[in-house]
Amino acid sequence: MAGRLEGKAAIVVGAGSTGPGWGNGKAAAVLFAREGARVLCADIDPDAAAETAAIVGSEGGEASACVCDAGNPDGIAAMTAACLQRYGRIDVLENNVGVLQLGGPAEVELDDWERLLRINLTSMFLACKAVLPVMVRQFEESGRGGVIVNIASIAGIRDTGIPFVAYNTTKGAILPFTRSIAIQYAKQGIRANSVLPGLMQTPMVMQSLQESYGGDAESLVQQRNALCPTGAMGDAWDVAYAALYLASDEAKYVTAAELVVDGGITARIGAAGPSGDR
Ligand SMILES: NC(=O)c1ccc[n+]([C@@H]2O[C@H](COP(=O)([O-])OP(=O)(O)OC[C@H]3O[C@@H](n4cnc5c(N)ncnc54)[C@H](O)[C@@H]3O)[C@@H](O)[C@H]2O)c1
Repeated sequence: MAGRLEGKAAIVVGAGSTGPGWGNGKAAAVLFAREGARVLCADIDPDAAAETAAIVGSEGGEASACVCDAGNPDGIAAMTAACLQRYGRIDVLENNVGVLQLGGPAEVELDDWERLLRINLTSMFLACKAVLPVMVRQFEESGRGGVIVNIASIAGIRDTGIPFVAYNTTKGAILPFTRSIAIQYAKQGIRANSVLPGLMQTPMVMQSLQESYGGDAESLVQQRNALCPTGAMGDAWDVAYAALYLASDEAKYVTAAELVVDGGITARIGAAGPSGDR
């Protein structure tokens, strides 16, 4: 089933990955392009943005890199302008940026608390603030508004066994943020949904959990696998396919939804150990 985003222009914010392999945004950008979208790959890391755009190009798709700090209004303004200039419209905005900070309120420094609010939450506010008027205009001109997909986390709805107070708080706040947009703009052809990944094996999660807990990667993988009812973590493609569905017209009646992609973790009672959500 190809062409699920044919003719659409998409921005993926955080389209790279931390280290080799597949992060959620990188997989989404490549998948969106495979399904026919022209994709602006926005990332603070120039190499990561360029790598994702190059993968799309090598597969015959259309994508370009855009270097931007999603927590900075000027960066988001430049990103929005770049998409309009290169592709003429913005049909899909995926807000995927998210970073971890270990600790509870007593341990986390104020600077780090504010950094996570800015990177994980204010980045979404800024991107929606810039892109929503574009989508409204598109709706008024052509009857086609747009879709916003915000990547939250099961850490926003459950305790995951690790004190990540700033991360958990920002991920939880994404849900009412997204819901508010969905309802406010429902009559203007704009849908907004959250995706809540569970334990996904991405380069970033392995790196940060190893930094936090030490231990070898293989035993960390086994511990995380054991926490999943399915017996194994998910991967970036599981999150990307959920985002693809929400971004596509197949989900035309789906808005204000919270799509959990966690192999059943949050449905089960009792879990222990250094799970993190990521
Ligand atoms: N991996 C998991 O298990 C998991 C679970 C739940 C939720 N998530 C969420 O999925 C998203 C992606 O996670 P991932 O593991 O693929 O991470 P990742 O770090 O591999 O990818 C995120 C990308 O965002 C970029 N980025 C970071 N700060 C930025 C900024 N200020 N501006 C622009 N780009 C920036 C990074 O350079 C990186 O390329 C995050 O929001 C994360 O919270 C991940």
